[in-house]
Amino acid sequence: MKVESKRDEHFNKENKIGWLRHVRKQKNVVFCSLYDGSTDKHLQVVADPQICHEELCTGCSVEVGGSLVPSQGRGQAVELQADHLSIVGPCDNEVYPIKPKTEYTADQLRAFPHLRARTILHQKLLRIRSTASMAVHKYFLDNHFLFVHTPITTSVDCEGAGETFSIKTGEELKPGAGGSDGPGHFFNSPTYLTVSGQLHLEVITGSFLKAYSFGPTFRAEKSPGRHHLAEFYMIEAEVAFTQSMECILQVMEGLVKSMTQSVLDSHEGEVEDLWKHSQVSDQMSYSDAIKILENKKDNFKESPKWGCDLSKEHEKFLVKHCGNVPVFVTDFPTEIKPFYCRQNEDHATVGAVDLLVPGVGELCGGSLREERHDILRPSLDNLGLTQPYHWYLELRQFGSVPHGGFGLGFERYLQCLLGIHNIKDTIPFPRWVQHCPL
Ligand code: 4AD
Ligand code: MG
Repeated sequence: MKVESKRDEHFNKENKIGWLRHVRKQKNVVFCSLYDGSTDKHLQVVADPQICHEELCTGCSVEVGGSLVPSQGRGQAVELQADHLSIVGPCDNEVYPIKPKTEYTADQLRAFPHLRARTILHQKLLRIRSTASMAVHKYFLDNHFLFVHTPITTSVDCEGAGETFSIKTGEELKPGAGGSDGPGHFFNSPTYLTVSGQLHLEVITGSFLKAYSFGPTFRAEKSPGRHHLAEFYMIEAEVAFTQSMECILQVMEGLVKSMTQSVLDSHEGEVEDLWKHSQVSDQMSYSDAIKILENKKDNFKESPKWGCDLSKEHEKFLVKHCGNVPVFVTDFPTEIKPFYCRQNEDHATVGAVDLLVPGVGELCGGSLREERHDILRPSLDNLGLTQPYHWYLELRQFGSVPHGGFGLGFERYLQCLLGIHNIKDTIPFPRWVQHCPL
């Protein structure tokens, strides 16, 4: 009998590790809320002040042992009655910038990027970001796509927009280097951080039907608004043997719905402002979009005009115009899209698509790719790119097939999904012009 109750006692014992969010001290008892990042719930720890000789306070890391018992307090079913509690790392609350029971704005939190992952808000974001990332892989696995690691360093500027970051070694950066007796380029040619893995994915879909990548991409956006980062994660998909845009739209839509469903399934109750519009989407051509915008041209700072890119305000207007649902805009003028887009029969537009979504505007950019050598070659000649893209042209000479794909900005997706005002709050370590603090 005695042995039994000893064993019961042993099994009811819990050891916990984590950090303290709040500490409330009374004369004979201390209440602490303990978290370990796994959920947004805290474990209330109740301790006799005698068992901890060091200063318990917000931010310190602890080890606690005790018994889980039903809680008298509101907001939790159980609490931990501590019988030992030790501080692993103390936290000087005089200088610790995160004060208990204080609500910080996202702007304030950005001032301490090394500490904001300790706040309830950012922990929630990081968990959702992790779930959505896993959902990306699940979607593509279920749909028989090959996962490809496209390179971070590259000698091509896929989008041709000149927003590349150049790569230089320490040697090359030394004063006087790069002259006739300087060290030259490490790679023997100018190289950049990738702006998109698309062209490399196209190499792979020269021998696989479907492939995708999901990794960091870099753009030197000099005047970033609240929708641009210098380093962001892009999901890119490429499908071979497809002549229709419909197939590309289906993959885009399938991916977005699947990520959203996973977040809903795993974060029930955690996500209040979830984007509810992923079920319905609208579709229009660029030319029709321009007609709609021209009818309302007094609403815009920049006048909409056929042949010009859609601005953020145009994109957002189109989404509202369609009832605040995602909108596919297709068939853009050739001049405003990159060289790789497939020419349409009208010779004025290309088979390109942008997916516009509420609150954000452009979420995905994609296209059918020009697979015909006799059409691609002159476009590259005109741009003076035939030499650096000789390998890309060869893909059109050796078993070329109609194909297409798209890129989805992962942070813009989270921004839209969670109603986050500034994209800098969707990524743990945001980088933008003049900002790369750690
Ligand atoms: O429209 P983009 O430039 O398309 C491409 O790079 C294609 N090569 C992709 C492909 O077809 N494989 O970029 C794709 C998406 C945009 O729609 C946007 O969501 C996101 O990437 N994006 C950015 N997100 C955050 N910060 C930036 N500076 C971004 N630039 C693009
Ligand atoms: Mg785009």
